[in-house]
Amino acid sequence: MTGLFVTLEGGDAVGKTTQAEQLDGWLTARGRTVVRTREPGGTDLGLAIRDLVLHRDGHVAPRAEALLYAADRAHHVATVVEPALARGDVVLQDRYLDSSVAYQGAGRVLDAEEVRGLSLWAVGGLLPRLTVLLDLDPRVGRARRAGREQYDRLEAEDDAFHQRVRDAYLRIAAAEPRRFLVVDAALPPEDVQDRIRAAVEPLLEES
Ligand code: TYD
Repeated sequence: MTGLFVTLEGGDAVGKTTQAEQLDGWLTARGRTVVRTREPGGTDLGLAIRDLVLHRDGHVAPRAEALLYAADRAHHVATVVEPALARGDVVLQDRYLDSSVAYQGAGRVLDAEEVRGLSLWAVGGLLPRLTVLLDLDPRVGRARRAGREQYDRLEAEDDAFHQRVRDAYLRIAAAEPRRFLVVDAALPPEDVQDRIRAAVEPLLEES
């Protein structure tokens, strides 16, 4: 038996955590074992990397940033994701390699294909069965984020950066329509959840 690998992607404050929690509850009620995890920071090593890359003051060279995310990913996949899939679990993961392509590629400093190739190398080619892209105008995301206390280094980037991230995500999704479900994250959260469940349901039978 092989498990089911589902990732959630999108800009900051699009509601990934809420959606993952609800999907987790639904899957668990259906008798599936769910491993909820995230990048960066899904392992001890990853937490250290997360701290370096998100909360270090000042500039991190773009290639260094891409390598740090890829290092986190390599360790996380090898020690958490693959063992869970081998047990037949459902892995519900907040962010994966599409985040690297969208964010590290979005500065246009790094080539999207190179960033993707680096991550694919890091994980031995493992791609999710389903990637849910929660798509939201970054200005709406910023308004949602305003109540939160902490900003990390990427959240602090300007609107133009977040618009490039959104555009990059939509391009990635359009290039792989079989893997992606794009959901309008401005919809009521229950409607977003219904769409996600409808996409996950048929996959449960094959996993
Ligand atoms: P996180 O704290 O998980 O916040 P969110 O709730 O927005 O998901 O976000 C981590 C930040 O790291 C987020 O701004 C996106 C960024 N990131 C990258 O730039 N590249 C990556 O490969 C990953 C996984 C995250």
